[in-house]
Amino acid sequence: MCGIVGYIGNNAVADVLLDGLKSLEYRGYDSAGIALNDNGGLDVFKAGGKLNNLFEVVSSNALKIKKPTSGIGHIRWATHGKATIQNAHPHLSNDGKLVLVHNGIIENYKELKAELEQEGFVFNSQTDTEVAVHVIDREYRKGCSLEQAVRQGVSLLSGAFAFCIMHKDEADCIIAVRKNAPLIIGLSDDENYIASDIPAVIGKVKKIIYLNDGEVAVVRKNNVEVTDLSGNLLNKKVEEIGFNPEVISKHGYKHFMLKEINEQPDILRKVLAQHIKASDLPVNLGQVKLKLDWQRIENISIIACGTSLHAAMVTKYVWENWLGLPVQIEAASEYIYRKNTTGKNSLVIGISQSGETADTITAVKQAKEKSAQVLIVTNREDSSIVRYADSVLPLEAGIEISVAATKSYSAQLLAMYWLGLYVAEQKKTLQPAELGKIKQEMLELPAKMEEVLSNAENIKSVADKLQAYKSVIYIARGSNQASALEGALKLKEISYINANGYAAGELKHGPIALLDENMPVIAVLAQGETYAKMLSNCEEVKARNAKLIAVTSVKDKHADNLFDDILRVPEIREDLSPLLLNIPLQLLAYYLADGLGREVDQPRNLAKSVTVE
Ligand code: M6R
Repeated sequence: MCGIVGYIGNNAVADVLLDGLKSLEYRGYDSAGIALNDNGGLDVFKAGGKLNNLFEVVSSNALKIKKPTSGIGHIRWATHGKATIQNAHPHLSNDGKLVLVHNGIIENYKELKAELEQEGFVFNSQTDTEVAVHVIDREYRKGCSLEQAVRQGVSLLSGAFAFCIMHKDEADCIIAVRKNAPLIIGLSDDENYIASDIPAVIGKVKKIIYLNDGEVAVVRKNNVEVTDLSGNLLNKKVEEIGFNPEVISKHGYKHFMLKEINEQPDILRKVLAQHIKASDLPVNLGQVKLKLDWQRIENISIIACGTSLHAAMVTKYVWENWLGLPVQIEAASEYIYRKNTTGKNSLVIGISQSGETADTITAVKQAKEKSAQVLIVTNREDSSIVRYADSVLPLEAGIEISVAATKSYSAQLLAMYWLGLYVAEQKKTLQPAELGKIKQEMLELPAKMEEVLSNAENIKSVADKLQAYKSVIYIARGSNQASALEGALKLKEISYINANGYAAGELKHGPIALLDENMPVIAVLAQGETYAKMLSNCEEVKARNAKLIAVTSVKDKHADNLFDDILRVPEIREDLSPLLLNIPLQLLAYYLADGLGREVDQPRNLAKSVTVE
């Protein structure tokens, strides 16, 4: 949610900033802006809408740009104030000398704004951010150093922030500071970078420093000094960047989403190679260090948002079956505002692709405060959420750029499957023969997934037929209830078609009233206890003249006539089937959205990491 960058060095500053923002575009695209410090003046360029508009503004002003030595940039996901140029960052102090970019939300901005206005400060935007400019400027004008002004200014702010701050009279440095929002410093010779996330510095630097909450970095061309809010010098760990530039390339695919969908079999193979080496071998923890006291655990709560919450739904279904333990799941945004029963005998699992989702972070923080054991399942071991973890289970899916989560979902399901099997083995809740069968089917998953992906053309032709519809319903039962919800979420978020997922048995309790020839229904079917009931539900749909599409792992000639279209995946046991059945649903959403000309990787109003509550 908003991305910020900073650069100080000898390269063309504007180009470096724009390039950094390009790789952070998944964090927001309501407006963008940069500020350039050239030792004699500050130049600020802003544009509403997508980053491309800022590229145009900068190139049409190319002649005005002198030779800046440092600069900061921002890409916005609007929270306070509409997506206008006026509200675009960077924001300037009233004397035009201090400038900053912000990611986060300043919760006490109203009180501060009233106070500052009384003192004569003039506000030029509707953002919460502008109070930060003025409180820091107020301190600076009292005569303290920029660094000290930042320390004193930010101590007045509550909420979340990552800032890059520059002053016209101090062109040799950029100040970076954070609280509850990510920020890294990229280190190189004769130049240094600041960014909200690693993609902005991949291929430019090899070493980075992760800034923690309450740390202030003074970033100069040739050195970086990090202190705490009291000014004490900190000895920060310098880490190697673990990603290569390949991960932020589309590799010839039209969109990152399509590339990421196609990466899934290889991700599965890689993860399985570490944890399930053969059907007759015990589950291997590999590099994962589980520091959990299973004897103490009386209940399990899985907390997550969006797609990660759907992975939690599948987990509940599967783990209760495999482990015989009660598993609760809850949207993090709900969990944090009620008196829940989490205690010292609880295991709380936070699932988050990004590890930066504010609601999930708050939830696991609360769980930790209640002495629960906390396991974090994330694709980003370097993210903020891991601070609250007793144990971390990395997804190993590689950086996911498209706003719509695809490969991370499959990696989440796989992680929860192998971990569930590991626990079942330890607690002996599954018979060895059953364990062997499950492992064998898991090992076959990558090849089966490849088979589904090779059927993409067929999926596209079904997607083309759905383009004319305004709404779609998804139905399923059992572990695939989550597939129905996830299929619907994927479709609505990237195509803007109204899509809703239901437990198929619930259809007759209300949603069936929506059915007619204008409401296609996508039924997700797997072999198992509820298959016959699913078919009855499909008959009920058909009787209401709705177009009916099956996404199925069941070979059943008798059922074929029921459906207008059938998207098949290879046969697979019901508990593992969400991993395969989700692939046609991802592709269906992708081709529908692309066919409608939507911006697939950057759907409107969304951002990849939701860092606000
Ligand atoms: O990074 P997280 O897994 O915590 O993100 C949670 C949701 O914001 C995310 O899954 C969102 O729903 C995606 N846009 C879905 O495609």
